[in-house]
Amino acid sequence: DRSIKIAPSILSADFANFGQEIRAIEAQGADWVHVDVMDGHFVPNLTFGPPLVKAIRPHIQTVMDVHLMIAPVDPYIDAFAEAGADVISAHLEAGPHIHRTLQAIRGAGCKAGLAINPGSGIDGIDYLLDMVDLICVMTVNPGFGGQKFIHSQIDKVKTLRAKIGDRPIHIEIDGGITPETAPLMAAAGADVLVAGSAVFKGGSVENPAPYGANIRAI
Ligand code: DX5
Ligand code: ZN
Repeated sequence: DRSIKIAPSILSADFANFGQEIRAIEAQGADWVHVDVMDGHFVPNLTFGPPLVKAIRPHIQTVMDVHLMIAPVDPYIDAFAEAGADVISAHLEAGPHIHRTLQAIRGAGCKAGLAINPGSGIDGIDYLLDMVDLICVMTVNPGFGGQKFIHSQIDKVKTLRAKIGDRPIHIEIDGGITPETAPLMAAAGADVLVAGSAVFKGGSVENPAPYGANIRAI
């Protein structure tokens, strides 16, 4: 379904060739580029920080979608904005002041995203809806690519779609997206699907055609 945007996560790319990998996935039909920032504290894995995000920025023609799995978040927002992020998502669970964090993201000139872990409810987010451009529903526990999709999140997405009403807010799904799970999320009301392992499997910068086939299969 081409009204659904596909955002490949470069967590599954060849880390020694980010520039080429990004150009390859965009040439093969990626709509956005999803960048997973992990701190070894909020999630049990480490990836990269603002200097790497800045270094890959010139290779991205579409949208740089930065998913911060870090706590605290606020001290780093300006650095990621200056590195060229278009969207910055922070986690509902990352601290006591998500309202302030979302204000700071918009204040830094970026679109504000609210990421929500599988174990968190959405009853409390009503007061945030006018402050967000995107809500990222995690369908795995964040930290690693290639994990299994958590089906209990489908109802959450349906409830969220109804709650959003006619506000211009993207619903993004992150984790375990495959050709099997993608239609479930589209039907539930998602419009941006992050996919890491399902996009990069079978391809490489020398042989990027599988990236395109994988994107079209989602
Ligand atoms: C998980 C990350 C995801 C991850 C998705 O912590 O936020 O973006 O890379 O990977 P797949 O699509 O392989 O589940
Ligand atoms: Zn992510």
